Amino acid sequence: MARAIYPGSFDPMTLGHLDIVKRASQLFDEVMMAVVANPGKAPLLPMEVRVNLIEEAVREIPNVKVGSFQGLLVDFAKHNNVSCVIRGLRAISDFEAELGMAQTNKTLLPELETIFLMTKAEYSFISSSTVKEIVRLGGDVTKFVPSVVNDHLKRQFSRGIS
Ligand code: PNS
Repeated sequence: MARAIYPGSFDPMTLGHLDIVKRASQLFDEVMMAVVANPGKAPLLPMEVRVNLIEEAVREIPNVKVGSFQGLLVDFAKHNNVSCVIRGLRAISDFEAELGMAQTNKTLLPELETIFLMTKAEYSFISSSTVKEIVRLGGDVTKFVPSVVNDHLKRQFSRGIS
């Protein structure tokens, strides 16, 4: 069975992430979206909320599972016996960092492959960072995130946060 991990902060999940995981689910028997606790970034949403929202957003895709981890991606991949990582590329500017991550992971765990899927043009400008900024300033992110995520953000941050 061909399985892949799609790791990320997903803070919050965007329409670009949803598109990538849908397309990955057609290439692999099973895809696990793995939400990473990234100590370097101040999260908008707690880990369990991010996981719950992704579970809702991918409910209709039977071969997509959702998990979370702390620590190294290579350890999580080894532990789950998965040898392929999926990452989305929106633009050439993403490539440098992604190449570095892929090569680092491959050095740490040589059997781990990274496969890049090109983000659809219509989502190529969307990032979680932009969504966070809009939410923090009280704006509307309906066009950027899955509806379940939008509903949650509206409920929680309707007046913005400082
Ligand atoms: O959504 P993001 O923040 O761009 O995802 C980056 C992520 C979480 C995939 C990356 O930071 C990661 O794999 N973190 C886990 C820690 C790790 O393994 N670091 C070494 C490899 S670069």
